[in-house]
Amino acid sequence: MSGVASGLRLEAVRVDRGGFPVVHGVDLVAPAGEVTVLLGPNGAGKTTLMEAVSGVVRVVSGTVNLGGRVLTRASRVARVRAGLSHVEQGRTVFADLTVEENLEIAGAGGYDRARALFPELASRRNVRAGLLSGGEQQMLVLARAIAREPAMILVDELSLGLAPVIVKRLIPVVRALADEGVGVLLVEQFAADALSIGDSAYLLNRGTIVHHGPAEVLAEQPELLRRAYFGGGDEPADDAVPAYAATSADAAVTADAAEAATHPDPKRG
Ligand SMILES: Nc1ncnc2c1ncn2[C@@H]1O[C@H](COP(=O)(O)OP(=O)(O)OP(=O)(O)O)[C@@H](O)[C@H]1O
Ligand SMILES: [Mg+2]
Repeated sequence: MSGVASGLRLEAVRVDRGGFPVVHGVDLVAPAGEVTVLLGPNGAGKTTLMEAVSGVVRVVSGTVNLGGRVLTRASRVARVRAGLSHVEQGRTVFADLTVEENLEIAGAGGYDRARALFPELASRRNVRAGLLSGGEQQMLVLARAIAREPAMILVDELSLGLAPVIVKRLIPVVRALADEGVGVLLVEQFAADALSIGDSAYLLNRGTIVHHGPAEVLAEQPELLRRAYFGGGDEPADDAVPAYAATSADAAVTADAAEAATHPDPKRG
């Protein structure tokens, strides 16, 4: 099976939240063996789209297809069995279980592979996961998802709340997964980091895909990102450096400016 045939394909997917449409007829392909980057401002619908794929929220219309199987109305368990793994935004570990126990209950067989990708975790294997640093916990979250041996993994904001050095550690693991044949759909605040390991990229704004193309093209054309984040002629003030242009290294200083410049997300008040 080719990468596309064995990967994820969304056709005209619409999703509502609180009775209002927030994802409007999205078409997206995330082939096996590739990193597909999904970017967009706060409230664009990135998490909602991922939740529609993994079955957390209902798809109103359109189709979700994984490896040639239509999963639009499938249960969450059926989607996991079909090879889907979802690292949810703001995910957690089982704090009272050790690192080893967290990996063991994650799934059959794949945990040797997960440990190989994160040797740091091996030395911490008997430590209760709740005592790990934020970065180590995120490694464990990713390792748990990998241990399930997914065909397709949805990763929502790997970097949330993490130090740049940890982001730099995690991003190549995502690439390594794809190189092993796994399909990856990656939502990441640090667009430059994500695009640097991405094959293709989609820009979502207010629930609509406004750009799709090779990741390297987007990396070289920040004005495309700017337009997607701020809309048509609605240019941001010069001093509003958006987070999308930031690497993990300088995001700490620019994130606040970007937050103020992008349209506010009601969730974050
Ligand atoms: N449980 C919910 N009930 C009602 N509305 C919701 C719910 N979750 C999200 N929304 C709304 O749906 C829209 C899309 O939100 P979503 O979380 O998918 O965006 P996002 O692109 O992931 O944003 P962020 O970058 O902040 O994570 C927003 O307007 C948000 O307020
Ligand atoms: Mg989100």
